Amino acid sequence: MKRSTIHKPETKLGNMSSPSTLTFLEHYCLKTWPELFLAFLCFLSIWCLKQRKKVMTEWPVIGILPSLIANAHRIHDWTTEIANTFGATVARRAGPACMAIDFLFTCDPCNIEYIARTNFLNFPKGTEFNGTFDILGEGIFNVDDELWHKQRSMARVAMASNTFRRSVSIAASKVLGDSLLPVLASKESPSVIDLEDVLLRYTFDTSMLFIFGRNPKCLSADFPENEFQKAMENGLESVFYRHILPHPVWKLFKWLNIWKERQLKQAWKTIDQYVEQYISEKKRLDLIKGSTQAENNDILETYINFQKQESWPDHMVPKNDKFLRDAMLSLLFAGRDTVGAGLSWFFWSVCKDPRVVSKVVDELRLVYSKKQRDHSIVNEKQQQQQQQQQPWLLFDAVDLREMVYLHAALCESMRLYPPLPLNRKTPLKEDVLPDGTVARPGTMVVISTFAMGRMEWIWGKDWAEFKPERWIDAKGMLSREMQSFFTFNIGPRACLGKNVAFTLMKMAASAVLLNFHVELLAGQKVEPKSTLVLRMKNGLKVRVERRNNT
Ligand code: HEM
Repeated sequence: MKRSTIHKPETKLGNMSSPSTLTFLEHYCLKTWPELFLAFLCFLSIWCLKQRKKVMTEWPVIGILPSLIANAHRIHDWTTEIANTFGATVARRAGPACMAIDFLFTCDPCNIEYIARTNFLNFPKGTEFNGTFDILGEGIFNVDDELWHKQRSMARVAMASNTFRRSVSIAASKVLGDSLLPVLASKESPSVIDLEDVLLRYTFDTSMLFIFGRNPKCLSADFPENEFQKAMENGLESVFYRHILPHPVWKLFKWLNIWKERQLKQAWKTIDQYVEQYISEKKRLDLIKGSTQAENNDILETYINFQKQESWPDHMVPKNDKFLRDAMLSLLFAGRDTVGAGLSWFFWSVCKDPRVVSKVVDELRLVYSKKQRDHSIVNEKQQQQQQQQQPWLLFDAVDLREMVYLHAALCESMRLYPPLPLNRKTPLKEDVLPDGTVARPGTMVVISTFAMGRMEWIWGKDWAEFKPERWIDAKGMLSREMQSFFTFNIGPRACLGKNVAFTLMKMAASAVLLNFHVELLAGQKVEPKSTLVLRMKNGLKVRVERRNNT
């Protein structure tokens, strides 16, 4: 089409000596019909502006594909706009017939409840999802049915033990006391730092400790680059783009080994090298230590012991390293970025509001003084010695239970900024959702908890306000509304690491806020990045200064 319109005038100008497109434009459009040309330009500009203002345009043949691509860089805000414009559940098609994807987007809690819990069996992740996340192999995130059942049973047993819970809080205390707080204090006071980067390093080091039993010390004063961590980031970024492009397109890119697919391939190779090394070192250490021990210090050790135990037969626990690789990588994926992102948005939300900061700090001081009273058997001299060794005010897992306001503030920030903002399902059979929407087999059902946290009809007129009080009842306890908290998913596939996540987040938030004043750098633009885990586009710049707690 384009070519023929340009071609036509060129033939008309055949008598002229070497006419260029510019001379044609000048002659015919600007000189002969300037009004017509101007009118055409105006029409084009208005049309473009109108399209930009439209939340979503459905084109013949290609459906909403142009809107999807145009909004890929702001996908989470776009889901909110879709819900506000077209309703909480919307079905659309994207891409030409041969490679079209049928989308069913929803942020309606009743529909989500139905998909995730009531008729869970009809909404697996599906084979397309498994292919998209192929880097995770057969890990818990990426499988359905029998395979998922086995992975879930194992992960549940491994994460339910007291030893595991203790190892999580020991790992967090270690990284906070030895790395995070000293790093914040080491900067010239008051110094500017990217708090998001610090928090992601904190969660990487702690997750590596309780999953693989090793501390990569990614969080230290010189902020070293870690190849394994970088590969995880690159891998996840590439997988995000697979969600935007039609399957045949990213599969073609994969085959051609170009763009994000090339990045993914390289990341995959690096990840495999590291995980292989961690597994073989752990097995070597295990051989030196001898027989199976009752207490395992990290999840990898627990899984290696599952492989040795008769109570976990071969069909449940395959006896190969690929099984260990897939399981550990999925847990690292689950724990690392989610907690780091959750914490970053928490600091952003809380530090904007001095009222909330002082309420959190008051609560922390109360819990800390109670802790000191409870340990009053320790005499003053011993206390002084302890303070010299550990100059920070730190809490342990038991203290965290009393931090109701801090817990509520974390829930509130995860309502507005859920670390996993999108979830995906594929119906097996045709189904009717509670609001009457028909979900056809093969449709990509996209659940947006990001949009859900921003709906006025769910949260009220003050939905945009940061109000931890939303989650606290008249008796000062965490309210029952918590049951409808979708950030960690609900139903049979609900997050297995919710308690771990709250432990890591509360330990870090309490340690930072009680030991430091955190001030947001004015004028910075903090907005979500289009990624699978809700990260910040430009990081979070803050000034930190030691708090005087005497
Ligand atoms: C703030 C932090 C976290 C959030 C918001 C979060 C949220 C979620 C969500 C929404 C799911 C469902 C995903 C899906 O169906 O595709 C999930 C699953 C899961 N999460 Fe978390 N998670 C967090 C931290 C963790 C941590 C720290 C761990 C463990 C170390 C963990 C372990 C898991 C596992 C194993 C699953 C898979 C459950 C299954 O498929 O049966 N999560 N999480």
